[in-house]
Amino acid sequence: MNRILVWDLPVRLGHWTLAASFAVAWLTAESESWRNVHVAAGYVFAATIAFRLAWGLVGTRYARFSSFVRGPKAVFSYLGSLLTTRPQHWVGHNPAGGWAILGLLGLGLVTAMSGIAAYNDFGGELFEELHEGAASAALALVGVHLAGVLVGSLAHRENLLRAMFTGYKNGEPVAAIRRQAWIAAGLQAAWITLGAMYLKQVVG
Ligand code: HEM
Ligand code: HEM
Repeated sequence: MNRILVWDLPVRLGHWTLAASFAVAWLTAESESWRNVHVAAGYVFAATIAFRLAWGLVGTRYARFSSFVRGPKAVFSYLGSLLTTRPQHWVGHNPAGGWAILGLLGLGLVTAMSGIAAYNDFGGELFEELHEGAASAALALVGVHLAGVLVGSLAHRENLLRAMFTGYKNGEPVAAIRRQAWIAAGLQAAWITLGAMYLKQVVG
């Protein structure tokens, strides 16, 4: 077993941007006087999700949706294996985590889009309700996500949290990705900054 690179830079930067912007948006949600900060955090969150969707198609091996989105059979087989002494091990996201990720990205998009509608007084209470509902559902799924990270870390005796910071895990050298994708990370930073500014200017 060696230390191998699994999560490229855009995956890690994107993840911690999602977590931070989601937290800021939650903490500022209730108060009118923090509305500008709330909306700005929401735009950063939305732009980060948009980049992640594209990176899921053209990114490095474990960033691609095709590497971690699996059917229900694989999900149940993985979850069942957690109850045995030899849980299945995946170098990237496991099949259950894969669906949690799609759920977080999907609910995140619905939250941001309904927030934009509510902010522009579009659709009356409908989008306000949808916005609050989607945000609460996303928070609940974040709870499931954190529980999954804990269970996965214990089952595989692997520090998944540290790996999301460093990018490295223990594994066979052939399983490693070969690049951090620095250029894509630069484009990502520019996309998120300019995207959030654009939304603020043009959408409101
Ligand atoms: C991470 C993304 C976001 C999260 C988690 C989030 C969460 C929330 C929550 C929980 C509320 C309800 C607060 C209450 O109890 O009254 C709220 C309200 C609101 N949010 Fe967001 N939000 C996000 C993004 C956005 C975006 C992108 C916009 C607009 C561009 C936005 C605009 C608003 C507005 C206008 C309200 C007040 C709605 C009302 O009058 O009831 N939010 N948000
Ligand atoms: C402090 C809170 C959080 C911690 C400690 C955390 C931790 C992690 C870890 C360890 C992984 C990798 C899981 C694996 O090895 O398969 C991960 C993945 C992920 N998490 Fe979180 N997370 C947090 C909050 C969030 C939030 C708030 C969101 C979104 C609303 C989120 C969305 C995601 C996504 C989309 C992935 C997949 C990463 C990718 O492939 O791009 N996380 N998280």
